Amino acid sequence: MKLKDRIALVTGGGSGIGRAIARLFAEEGARVVVNDLNLPAAEQTVAAMGAARGRAVRADVADSAQVRALFAEIEREFGALDILVNNAGIAPAGTEREAIGGKAEARLAELLSGQGVQTHWDITQAMTDEAWRRMIAVHLDGTFFCTREALRFMSRRNRGVIINMSSVAALMGLENAPHYSAAKGGILAFTRAVAREVGSQGIRVNAICPGFIDTPMTAPISPLLRTAVLGRTPLGRWGEPGEVATTALFLASDDSSFFTGQWLSPNGGLFTG
Ligand SMILES: NC(=O)c1ccc[n+]([C@@H]2O[C@H](COP(=O)([O-])OP(=O)(O)OC[C@H]3O[C@@H](n4cnc5c(N)ncnc54)[C@H](O)[C@@H]3O)[C@@H](O)[C@H]2O)c1
Repeated sequence: MKLKDRIALVTGGGSGIGRAIARLFAEEGARVVVNDLNLPAAEQTVAAMGAARGRAVRADVADSAQVRALFAEIEREFGALDILVNNAGIAPAGTEREAIGGKAEARLAELLSGQGVQTHWDITQAMTDEAWRRMIAVHLDGTFFCTREALRFMSRRNRGVIINMSSVAALMGLENAPHYSAAKGGILAFTRAVAREVGSQGIRVNAICPGFIDTPMTAPISPLLRTAVLGRTPLGRWGEPGEVATTALFLASDDSSFFTGQWLSPNGGLFTG
């Protein structure tokens, strides 16, 4: 039991990586607050880990008032917070995703034809203010809002662990998601700065930069694009949410007691820098 009696908050815990983290933390003895925008999904996660081990709370992490209310509930219910996992996230959706998918397929076909690529991404020049702002808001504002509230808990006891979900997008840049890459890069820089800021209070702050992981977020990616990613991944497969969860468990537990301001990247060898 690596997290016996610790209190953890996992944002975006109703699906994919967040759900796997919440379940593993509960198995390791933690009581877990599972936040999600989608309350029934968060409740399913809590049901899967055993109702006594968790609590589902709806909040949009991009809204500071809702985040304050989430932490007020944690204060009332538990009176402390040992671990925060800033995991909630979104990918391009709707027409934006369709445009990216169509262009990706066209570019691959052109590349394979040997005639050179004529279809250009043109993602940044076509991006709306709304698409840019929502991506930054959910990831970067959300990470800041939750970290600000969590530090108010953790600095009372001079201990705590914060884990921020970044991405290989921060390390490599994803050509079809400049807003997502910027948000994840911001999270990485924020992680390093806050780690330095709060180290003297015994609070550790680290990031995880997963590669491509099979979750509902990546499910809409087409078979052709999946194959293209596999071609650049030495382990020859996509990752499982559980493989990110074990990374989070390491960073949450005392096993990583000398780690702060770092990133770990479960990515199958896609990025090795
Ligand atoms: N899947 C991957 O390949 C991959 C790779 C690198 C990083 N990540 C990151 O890991 C995290 C989890 O991704 P996932 O693949 O499990 O996605 P997912 O879509 O399966 O789960 C994300 C969860 O976050 C919730 N959410 C979205 N916006 C929210 C908000 N504003 N407030 C609260 N909850 C919100 C969703 O409802 C959903 O339950 C994200 O930050 C994502 O960017 C994923």
